[in-house]
Amino acid sequence: MRSPAIPEPLIRAVIGAVLGDDIAARPAGDAIPKHLLAPHAERIMRLSERFTGDAAERLPRYLDEARLDDSYALYYMPINAAKVATLIGIARAAGYLTAGSLRVAELGCGPGGGLVGALTALEGTALTLTGVDHSESALALAGRIISAAGGTFPSIRFNLEGAVPDLKTPQDIFIIANTLNELWRGRDDTIEKRTRLVAGLAEKHLAPGGVILLLEPALRAPSRELVAVRDRLLAGGGWRILHPCTHHAACPFAANSDEWCHDLLSWEIPDIVRQMDDLMGFNKHRLKFSSLVLTRGEPISPADRWYVLIDPHEAKGMTDLVACGERGMVRMILSRRSYSEANRPFRKLGKGDHFTLNLSHEPEKLYRLTPDDTVLVD
Ligand SMILES: C[S@@+](CC[C@H](N)C(=O)[O-])C[C@H]1O[C@@H](n2cnc3c(N)ncnc32)[C@H](O)[C@@H]1O
Repeated sequence: MRSPAIPEPLIRAVIGAVLGDDIAARPAGDAIPKHLLAPHAERIMRLSERFTGDAAERLPRYLDEARLDDSYALYYMPINAAKVATLIGIARAAGYLTAGSLRVAELGCGPGGGLVGALTALEGTALTLTGVDHSESALALAGRIISAAGGTFPSIRFNLEGAVPDLKTPQDIFIIANTLNELWRGRDDTIEKRTRLVAGLAEKHLAPGGVILLLEPALRAPSRELVAVRDRLLAGGGWRILHPCTHHAACPFAANSDEWCHDLLSWEIPDIVRQMDDLMGFNKHRLKFSSLVLTRGEPISPADRWYVLIDPHEAKGMTDLVACGERGMVRMILSRRSYSEANRPFRKLGKGDHFTLNLSHEPEKLYRLTPDDTVLVD
């Protein structure tokens, strides 16, 4: 998967809101002086430790801490915008979100990374954006960024653990990015509550043909909890998954506590993220995240659709991968002696790709492709 590039004016809007308009106006390619970035890098390193800590512990209201929302925006905004833009692109490729004007709401918007993702993916579409968060300072920052990017931004200060916010008009896109895992942490009914929030949005506030994007860090606990929400939503019926799942059966990872599914995204890394990475020793060359793109409707699960779960492995003339489909997880191997024009695309598959392959026989432990197998990649 590859993300669309975040347009330069959106990156400049973030830099302007955090570091000032003079810095944002510097010619492209001019590095920002290190002493301006160093305090933000130091805060991001602290924040990143919190994000990877105990998933059951309640997080403090970190975006209310002095300057933490600025630092978060400077680094994570382009990263999260790229992920959201990619998911919106996937929904559009599936035939959704094609109207000339769309309403987009981000719940737990922080400084608005998901909304910037929508602005990126939906350039040319008239967008009405709304941000919901319980942090006043994060909402104020999101307002500055979105207006500098040319958008308008009504915001709602709201505790998502209290109820589903009433947005007055049905929304075409709901984005809940890196936020679900912060809600109702460490309770017996955590999954139930999160499921109810998502179901409530769909029942009361989602426009016909609208899409809900759930996005979480690719860490064990948030990813596995997202799977649990998925399975619980599906049990209630009336959902169609547009990404990543190719089927609507129980997730095969649900029973295996050591594994989870996540996406891997290539992107055009903006200079600001590269500079921050250099200071922190991080590497956002490729972006990892867990996600679920949902819409209301009858589930469609073609038996020949697959999702590459684990980065394919090439050894001794064989391409070896694990794919997820209606039959569950299947290890698939293409050996050199079975190469053909029809199965050639199999050799180019990467983690997170979707492909079509009609299995010619029931796999036992693994499926060995034959020269007659036809593989089509999206
Ligand atoms: C990790 S940030 C994600 C920000 C943005 N969605 C992104 O992906 O960049 C999580 C956000 O959820 C918000 N949040 C956490 N608990 C909340 C609650 N109970 N009600 C409303 N917002 C909440 C936090 O204030 C924070 O802005």
